Amino acid sequence: MTDRFRDEHDGRPAEPLVGDGVTPGIVRVGDTVRRPVRPFTATVQAYLAHLHRAGFTAAPVPLGVDGQGREVLTYVPGDVPREPLPAAAAGEDVLVALAQLIRRLHGAADGWVPPADAVWGGIPGTAAVDDVPVEGEPELVGHRDYCPGNVVFREGLPASLIDFDLARPTTRLYEIANALYWWVPLLDPRDRAPAFAGLDAARRVSAFVDAYGATGRQRAELVPLATRMIHRFHRRARAAAASDPVFRRMWEEGVRDRMPRAEAWIAREGPAIAGRITP
Ligand SMILES: Nc1ncnc2c1ncn2[C@@H]1O[C@H](COP(=O)(O)OP(=O)(O)O)[C@@H](O)[C@H]1O
Ligand SMILES: [Mg+2]
Repeated sequence: MTDRFRDEHDGRPAEPLVGDGVTPGIVRVGDTVRRPVRPFTATVQAYLAHLHRAGFTAAPVPLGVDGQGREVLTYVPGDVPREPLPAAAAGEDVLVALAQLIRRLHGAADGWVPPADAVWGGIPGTAAVDDVPVEGEPELVGHRDYCPGNVVFREGLPASLIDFDLARPTTRLYEIANALYWWVPLLDPRDRAPAFAGLDAARRVSAFVDAYGATGRQRAELVPLATRMIHRFHRRARAAAASDPVFRRMWEEGVRDRMPRAEAWIAREGPAIAGRITP
């Protein structure tokens, strides 16, 4: 068997899709993607259906479950970057397009009431470290995982979002901080992809919050929230590594060193970033 194999269900060729290696068993079949069904799949599909009804089309269309019991979504054409981020993604135009995309997502998500029996996804083994409140009183259901492997580019710019597995009620500000973490990125320069190491983080944050249209309050609260978020990422990564082999490998391959350095970096550079985005 080669890396292309026959899809047993409908006879069409299926092509394995490997992203960040978190979810095994994802395949493309024609214009669709098949993913394992998880406890939160129906909730995510309801959210995606709402987004499309509300006019936000930069996300997969949910198509239910196939005969093999797999989640079915439309395949989103384009290029998905991986870490380390390519130099071509280092322009401020990328940050601006992503901020505008997330702003449009929020416009569509605003006011959606999740089903009463909604089930939300999470990172394995991390429930115990989620005791510290980080995100604040929820305003809407957001994507919450803007890592490179979850953003589809077309013509060099972010054009669509995929992988809504971590969607749940949150704040607009948490969404902004999450996207900034991955795309500024909010990391010590030695832990960034080469083309990003020398960039001015405060300037990049400023470009993003301008393009999003952040309020004065969001600007004032961003750095404290990002600091709490990075601290929680560190605690979660440690907890997930203790309970899941995929997260253990990521921890050992660098997360263990990167997260404490990110915490030290935001503590050091946070005041300059806050100064740049507040009057
Ligand atoms: N609907 C989709 N359209 C296009 N590509 C997709 C789609 N879903 C997944 N992929 C590809 O498969 C990769 C892994 O899928 P993803 O849903 O992000 O799973 P994981 O939980 O492993 O991150 C993505 O990074 C992307 O390259
Ligand atoms: Mg993903």
